[in-house]
Amino acid sequence: MKQRFARTAAVAFAWCLAVFAQVADYTLVAAPGSVTLGPGLTQQALVFNGQLPGPTLSATQGQVLRVRFVNQLSAPSSLHFHGINMQGGMDGVPGVTRPAVAPGQEFVYEFTVPDSGTFWYHPHVEDQMTSGLYGMVRVAPTNPSVDPPYDVDVPIILHDDTTHAGGFIGGMMNGTATGYVGHVLNGKTSLGQTPISVTQGQRVRFRFLNAAARSHYVVALDGHPMQVTHADGHRVNAITTSALPIGAGERWDAIVVMNNPGVWSLAASDIATRTTTLVRGVVAYAGSTAAVPSPTFVPANLSTGSLLSYAQLSGVSGTPPITSTPTRTYPMVIGSTMGGGMGGGAMTLTINGQAWPNVTPYNLTLNDSVQLNFSTSGMMAGMMYHPMHLHGHVYRLMGTAGGTSSPPKKDTLLIRPTGQVGNTASVQFIADNPGEWMFHCHDSEHQMMGMMNTFRYSADADADGLADDVDWDPLIPNPVLTIPETAAAFVPGGAGEILVQARPSTTVDLWLGFPSSTPTAFPPLGTLQIDGPYMYAGTAVSGVGLNAAFPYAVPNPFTLSGVRFGLQAVTWGPNGATPKFSSWHPITFW
Ligand code: C2O
Ligand code: CU
Repeated sequence: MKQRFARTAAVAFAWCLAVFAQVADYTLVAAPGSVTLGPGLTQQALVFNGQLPGPTLSATQGQVLRVRFVNQLSAPSSLHFHGINMQGGMDGVPGVTRPAVAPGQEFVYEFTVPDSGTFWYHPHVEDQMTSGLYGMVRVAPTNPSVDPPYDVDVPIILHDDTTHAGGFIGGMMNGTATGYVGHVLNGKTSLGQTPISVTQGQRVRFRFLNAAARSHYVVALDGHPMQVTHADGHRVNAITTSALPIGAGERWDAIVVMNNPGVWSLAASDIATRTTTLVRGVVAYAGSTAAVPSPTFVPANLSTGSLLSYAQLSGVSGTPPITSTPTRTYPMVIGSTMGGGMGGGAMTLTINGQAWPNVTPYNLTLNDSVQLNFSTSGMMAGMMYHPMHLHGHVYRLMGTAGGTSSPPKKDTLLIRPTGQVGNTASVQFIADNPGEWMFHCHDSEHQMMGMMNTFRYSADADADGLADDVDWDPLIPNPVLTIPETAAAFVPGGAGEILVQARPSTTVDLWLGFPSSTPTAFPPLGTLQIDGPYMYAGTAVSGVGLNAAFPYAVPNPFTLSGVRFGLQAVTWGPNGATPKFSSWHPITFW
């Protein structure tokens, strides 16, 4: 697929932005690779574009983010954009929003980014995320003045190596190096860090992301307080703190005024053991000759400084208020049982007594206001931290400085062990995004032990005959292409079948597009473009179910050898009717 809207051109000239920057285009290739975490420490991992972490994606609020995802892993995969409330179908949960992307295949994720802030992406396949497949998404506001002023922004991404840490998930292969205890900052151990260079007087916006499988941290920058300005990407009234707890999946943006020249440790400890530095970055003022702090040094603000708490947060303008009469209220009791989960006899962790996949989804109706009351039950579940994440929606936290009129917004809520403040919590959200959406603990092990369910809408928002919770495009009243089983079937001369999701008893026509040096655009169809010549491929009639199986044979004229092609459109109606290009995103196979 050609990069038709060059981002570099778009950002070079502000006046171009309005005209050309409708699409931020990226390609992410997931593949096994080796990563060097620090001196003498090279390990096998799974990586995006050969990098750990994956590249930081940038977009502007309201822009279309289009990510061509290439799966070069040996297992099915997907891309989930954590915290971005795009329309359903692009949420990247295999089997829930779309079929998984088969090994060797591609899928183009394409959606409008509704909110500015700091988000992230990872496959919704836990052992892939924990093995190194994660990266940040940074979305600039349409109106820059909604953010406090800053000079530079610096992503700080924490991750844990679960195999090293003794987990069972099968993360990166174990390796040993001095002082390495299984945690990395921006993909490096403490000894592998390149100092972040700053100048005196600069306002540096750190974008903290905890992309760990299992670890929850406290982070602090020695010698400097931080002003927390965004919670999970959403603007909050600035709060000054010495240290910042960050649960798995959470993000905090914090501005630090660089007014204390030196070379400083940006250190992370475990959330429960603040007296040991697990990994640290280095912040170095230009011109400072101070020594680089030792990896084991524990800054005073890390071990004993004031900690940010959710109760301090208040949202900034425009947040829907907390209602005393929510349409639906669900208790969310986190507990445990012996047996009954995927693993048979093993312990399961439950939400309201249920463990995935033996769960009853929670129902939603469009525009409901929904309240969730979290608590833990019993010793086992009560000993642990549970970062509870909801897809497609944003929580408004109750019981904070924002009160009922300006609650802070977040998408991941860390429920703390019994006896700590934060062991119970309540949130509200507005059901404004039809589809079926995951709700789960972001501790990968807990998730695999059953802490997962979905919220689902069962109406038919786009009136296309497909209920919202099974419609892969719940807001687009068109048939949807799905992904065939193997890439090998998509070669010249190959044959197979394609699934098309469509209203029962509809005739569906399939068109194929082939690349050419002169892409053909179809302006009335939004972003849909056909690369080059396209051809009518055939027709199918869907049966009583939702999915029509679509036999095909890839033609093999002399010019096609080695050429890629894409499934680019389906139309419906009687065969021969005026084609309506309905595949709103192309799916491309090489
Ligand atoms: Cu980052 Cu379903 O999660
Ligand atoms: Cu949990």
